[in-house]
Amino acid sequence: MVYQILEGSTVKSSFNKRIFIYFLGIVCPLLSLLILSTYNVMNICYNYPDLDNQLLSRWNREVDSLVKDFYLFDSNSLEDYIIEYNEKVPDPPKPSDKLCSAVIEAEKFDCLPRGLVTQDACTKKGCCYSESSGNVPSCFFPPAFQSYTYSSINRTEKELSAELTLKYNLFYPSVPPKVYLKAVFLTDSNLLVTVLPYPFPSMSEPYSTNGKTEESSGVTDNVLYDFVLDSNSTGFKVIRKSTKTAIFDSRDIGGFIYSNLFVQISAKIPCKHIYGLGEGRTDLPLSTNWTVRTLWNHDTVPTDGVNGYGSYPMYLCAEGNGLAHTVTFLNSFAIDFILQPGAITYRSVGPPLAIQFTLGPSPLQAVTQIANMYKSFMPPYWALGFHLCRFGYKSVEDIKRVWNSTRAAGIPYDTQWVDIDYMNNRNDFTIGENFTDLGKFVDMLHKNGMHFVPILDPGISGSEPKGKYPPYDRGMELDIFVKDSYGKKPLVGKVWNPVSTVFPDFTHPKVIPYWIEMLKSLYKNFEFDGIWLDMNEPSNFVNGSINGCPKNILEDPPYVPAVQGGKLKYHTLCMSAKHSLGPHYAVHNSYGVFEAVATNFALTQIRGGKRPLVITRASTFMAGTFAGHWTGDVISSWDDMAQSVKDIIQMSMYGVHLVGADICGFNGNTTVELCRRWQQLGAFYPFSRNHNTDDGIPQDPVSLNIVDSTKKALLLRYSLLPYLYTLFWQANNNGTPVIRPLFYLFPNDEASYRINSQFMWGDGLLISPVLKEGHTYVKAYLGNSIWYDMYTSAKIISNSSQIYALPAPEDTIPVHIRGGTILVMQEPNVTTTLTRQNPFHLKVALDGNNQAKGMLFWDDGDTNDGNYSTVYFGIINNTLMSCNDIRNYKIDRYINRIEIFSLNSVKQVTLNQKTNLQYNFNGTTNVLALENLKLDIQTDFNITWT
Ligand SMILES: *[C@@H]1O[C@H](CO)[C@@H](O)[C@H](O)[C@H]1NC(C)=O
Ligand SMILES: *[C@@H]1O[C@H](CO)[C@@H](O)[C@H](O)[C@H]1NC(C)=O
Ligand SMILES: *[C@@H]1O[C@H](CO)[C@@H](O)[C@H](O)[C@H]1NC(C)=O
Ligand SMILES: *[C@@H]1O[C@H](CO)[C@@H](O)[C@H](O)[C@H]1NC(C)=O
Ligand SMILES: *[C@@H]1O[C@H](CO)[C@@H](O)[C@H](O)[C@H]1NC(C)=O
Repeated sequence: MVYQILEGSTVKSSFNKRIFIYFLGIVCPLLSLLILSTYNVMNICYNYPDLDNQLLSRWNREVDSLVKDFYLFDSNSLEDYIIEYNEKVPDPPKPSDKLCSAVIEAEKFDCLPRGLVTQDACTKKGCCYSESSGNVPSCFFPPAFQSYTYSSINRTEKELSAELTLKYNLFYPSVPPKVYLKAVFLTDSNLLVTVLPYPFPSMSEPYSTNGKTEESSGVTDNVLYDFVLDSNSTGFKVIRKSTKTAIFDSRDIGGFIYSNLFVQISAKIPCKHIYGLGEGRTDLPLSTNWTVRTLWNHDTVPTDGVNGYGSYPMYLCAEGNGLAHTVTFLNSFAIDFILQPGAITYRSVGPPLAIQFTLGPSPLQAVTQIANMYKSFMPPYWALGFHLCRFGYKSVEDIKRVWNSTRAAGIPYDTQWVDIDYMNNRNDFTIGENFTDLGKFVDMLHKNGMHFVPILDPGISGSEPKGKYPPYDRGMELDIFVKDSYGKKPLVGKVWNPVSTVFPDFTHPKVIPYWIEMLKSLYKNFEFDGIWLDMNEPSNFVNGSINGCPKNILEDPPYVPAVQGGKLKYHTLCMSAKHSLGPHYAVHNSYGVFEAVATNFALTQIRGGKRPLVITRASTFMAGTFAGHWTGDVISSWDDMAQSVKDIIQMSMYGVHLVGADICGFNGNTTVELCRRWQQLGAFYPFSRNHNTDDGIPQDPVSLNIVDSTKKALLLRYSLLPYLYTLFWQANNNGTPVIRPLFYLFPNDEASYRINSQFMWGDGLLISPVLKEGHTYVKAYLGNSIWYDMYTSAKIISNSSQIYALPAPEDTIPVHIRGGTILVMQEPNVTTTLTRQNPFHLKVALDGNNQAKGMLFWDDGDTNDGNYSTVYFGIINNTLMSCNDIRNYKIDRYINRIEIFSLNSVKQVTLNQKTNLQYNFNGTTNVLALENLKLDIQTDFNITWT
């Protein structure tokens, strides 16, 4: 693996002299194998979803995998949640003062979470009471608090299973008298621990690990972890064997509670830095000062400390010494996490407890191991171009004006978007009076090699005249709307529609034909290329429904996480509303992903097998398999622009690679300078879209007169798209992230873990944006490495103890190529369609051993036909070699230019050991430039310089 071996300045390479001898024989397969192995290509199959009549069965498989792999609760009845168990257990004993006073502050775990804390209530639960300040709990568990005790433990090579018996009353409803714990040793680096009630209604025991015991490859002598139970204390411990560090130790710290409506576990964790637990506006790394992170999909302006649009109960923990692991809580209920110094508490409002660990050992390996639970989607090539949008276009003419001026300015620009303005009365699948010409406009875009994406809300108007609005009438016929708590009629809320709104149940099998039918009818009006899913948390302008919600335990569960509004139904549906797959209480956090699945399927069907672009606001695990994401209604402020770097880094940890913030900000008015800098930064978001609110000043680049700097940044982006696209393929194929924080590259350098204002594309390109008003330089961290300035080719041999001031004049965003990288680039044009017709060129940035490597993945960028090609490039001993590995797609483009940085002198350049090549060596910049090469990219070549 190339990614984790980069320690300090020694950029190790897999090339050596012995292997070079093979190269001279031009043994292409060997070269490709060698480079392939450095990219950790586990399997080079590249399968797009099939497009056939098997759609529904595929949907069933996807839903199955969502439900099983991520433990969505598969239960339709309220009763399943509230089981009255008959066994009686005693109340816990009151702990002694001596025991209580021995508990240090950092080891206080809340015994009355979000409850009314009185001394009486506290001691009744067997806990310690001592008033404290801030977020430190006043009522906390005594040491060695025993909720359950182990009654039986069995261990084999592949798994450990144990039965736990309830010891004391836990004061929550529906506490099972027995629970079953299973730890499955999946691989040397992956461990899955599940706890389920035993026996569990409607779920058989194998569900607890979903057959993972059978499919696990098991562990070898190289297993990275040990799983420790100690029969005297509730809980368990996971150890990293190499350092004996306890990476998760939940023994003896009380907070293990298992109720069917409340699951809590606390653990001591060894994190020097911790990331994740999104989505939400947070610092990076996360604060551990009694920080609460609440996960409950919610429509709100991203605000510190408030639950956001998505839910990802996963964290990456950096242990020090370059080691890291991930911990993922496979659960889709509302969740609170509490981070306190040295420990974490997890509280979800539903079962099971299922925790997956990946042990890396490097941060990048740990993230890649968890990302491999799902396959990220391959975006169409045009989706990597620049997108332009705003809320508040008045008409097609209005859009055309912006289109015209943006095109006339020569700004690279692939896709025009439209917000709800195009609809009639803001109703899905309708066209407003000023947008009847949208079809012609979109046809014109297509003729110009451009694309078009409209917005869509999940909510369907519930108050149109009968027979006049098929989306409602057909939905009623097919019976696919989310039902109210009584299960007979659709739940009625209110969103953008004038009177009322009903919500498709995206967990209902018939929603797929319904969604295809509706989107097809819209497609007849204008041939959209992608769909933008908004409001799918789902957002509701009333709480629950226009009729409120009934009183029941799901509406008022014993524990409500720290959600905005104080109630789970706040600005969403009633918790006891009914979906095909269960109550909204259980389905809420995955509603957006289910909508993304349906939309992805529908687009694929309607657009004749072309790859769809779906961008979703609400998301959870597996979103990245079907969609990209934008970070919602951010504010046009320097602070929110800086935040976006933290946001895209964290989303990439969740396997959502096509991600970006609204360039220049959504809410409020931008300034010219802010927007200029944001366009530069946004040129390096994987998903690069300028979008604006309806009451903001126009902020498209022409309106703000920031054309030159925007063009400069976007032309650079377009020239780099072959590299970016290849990274997306690697993400799809190997699980490696597209966007990376610097600590993936410098895991042994503690300083790198706090860098949150710079990011990388893969491991080859560093982006250091200007995030401060008035600045014309960036204070940058560069680790111990070698870098080349993208614009001047100047070389920096960097030292991690130093901060570098990178020049960033008004029109420039600092971008650096890491030594050891061969960037495959293309001459840019104003659309990706035109750019793809241009020749390629290579920029070669040598590392300390004068070596470098790179690759190109290429296909038609648009269809699902599965034909693609890969070309690998490597340099050793002053020879650049190319090797075509797979040639199923004809690339038909030359490599016309090669630039090699940082050579001392050049006397001769030969192609394939025979032909002398014309060259240009600049003794000042030390760049060797070969022009007009006309090298067919699909014919292997080598170029040697002396
Ligand atoms: C932690 O938060 C409290 C307020 O809740 C504050 O007084 C304290 O300074 C913070 N500590 C650190 C280390 O930031
Ligand atoms: C452990 O194995 C014994 C003997 O097969 C069995 O009776 C017991 O139920 C097992 N315990 C667990 C927790 O699986
Ligand atoms: C469990 O407790 C018993 C009795 O207190 C003690 O003898 C034994 O050593 C303990 N076991 C472990 C693993 O700590
Ligand atoms: C767009 O520009 C062309 C000329 O480049 C012009 O013919 C056309 O009228 C313009 N359209 C609008 C809506 O401004
Ligand atoms: C249609 O456009 C006209 C002219 O810009 C405007 O006055 C009218 O309000 C628009 N209609 C709607 C429904 O927005």
